[in-house]
Amino acid sequence: MKKLLIKNIKELVQVEYSPKSRVLGHDMKNLPTLKNAWLAVEDDTIIDFGSMDEMPGITDWNDLEVIDAEGKLVFPSWCDSHTHIVFAGTRETEFVDRINGLSYEEIASRGGGILNSAEKLANTSEDDLVDSAMNRLNEIMHLGTGAVEIKSGYGLSVEAELKILRVIKRLKQLSPLTIKANFLGAHAIPKLFKENRAGYIDQIINDMLPVIEKEGLAEYIDTFCETNYFTPEETDRILTAGFKHGLKPKIHVNQFTAIGGIQIGVKHNAISVDHLEVVREEDIEILKNSTTIPTLLPSCSFFLSIPFGPAKDLMAANLPVALASDYNPGSTPSGNMNFVVSLACVKMKMTPEQAINAATINGAAAMELSSTHGSIAIGKKANLFITKPISGYSYIPYSFGANHIETIIINGSIQ
Ligand code: NIG
Ligand code: FE
Repeated sequence: MKKLLIKNIKELVQVEYSPKSRVLGHDMKNLPTLKNAWLAVEDDTIIDFGSMDEMPGITDWNDLEVIDAEGKLVFPSWCDSHTHIVFAGTRETEFVDRINGLSYEEIASRGGGILNSAEKLANTSEDDLVDSAMNRLNEIMHLGTGAVEIKSGYGLSVEAELKILRVIKRLKQLSPLTIKANFLGAHAIPKLFKENRAGYIDQIINDMLPVIEKEGLAEYIDTFCETNYFTPEETDRILTAGFKHGLKPKIHVNQFTAIGGIQIGVKHNAISVDHLEVVREEDIEILKNSTTIPTLLPSCSFFLSIPFGPAKDLMAANLPVALASDYNPGSTPSGNMNFVVSLACVKMKMTPEQAINAATINGAAAMELSSTHGSIAIGKKANLFITKPISGYSYIPYSFGANHIETIIINGSIQ
């Protein structure tokens, strides 16, 4: 049995004594911590923690690895509940086009955007996709992420969507991170179906979903419910079909326009509705009567120069806001959750406590992982990070753009 003791921890962040599935908006200002603490891990599990003043005597020092965390903080790993990490090639040309005045929508209407990524992915092998996605997973792991949701959506054909989902299945075996797969066949209407949208949706329903169920390729289903992408009615049809194949919805809504995506998500008991850069009063009202988690993606707002989601209004409505990266080649070429937390504080006026709750326990809840991830609790998975010596947890969002993490522990092992 592998044993690890972290002692002299300056502050153990997000400790949890009784299990909670999520933190509601009004409580998000509270971030429970323990100063001058120790933490014990056995194999891949947190087995105990407490104050250094009352650290139990250790009789069995054989095979015990000890880390002295003097001056350092220990956090539960970030839980990134929204990414598109499997992709081929990058899109800096569009980035420069946007600097020169084109909008994201204009680029998409010229065949760029998601369709550009789909073309690149069609010509890339499964093995190459695994290699590049593994590099990105290692990158985010060393930035403190311990659990991640990955979407398909750059395939847009039966063959290529299944290829991405099979890549994600291999990533689950290869990477120590906890991974959830989300089927986003309805990310855009592919070129071939430009004049026959219903034909593509039929393909999603009749040709993709049965294979996804048979091969166990996804837990969730997503749709980009947006003007020029999929309508609320189409989203409704796709989510209904997904449910029949055992997939729960986590969907893209209200990124550029509010067209009723939140309503469809709530109708289908979506685990989360994500983006929410454009939110109306009535959208918040609908969310109040649901268990659906509003997930905000501030690095997408930053990169595309679009509005930031109304975190304060959502929290004032007592909703359990989550934060995620949206790592993808078009709207967010970064999976750095430390930067997400910084942006949430600077641009959305979340306090560090609120942002850390949103990026840990509520992110875990948005992947249905809060019984095992997202906090420091006895019995939870030992996915943690130890910072360099820093003044306190607010230093992470304050000192943006630098990596203050020194040691990564995933499944109880130092990475
Ligand atoms: O979440 N909005 C839809 N999908 C991605 C971006 C896709 C792309 O531009 O490649 C997002 O922002
Ligand atoms: Fe996205």
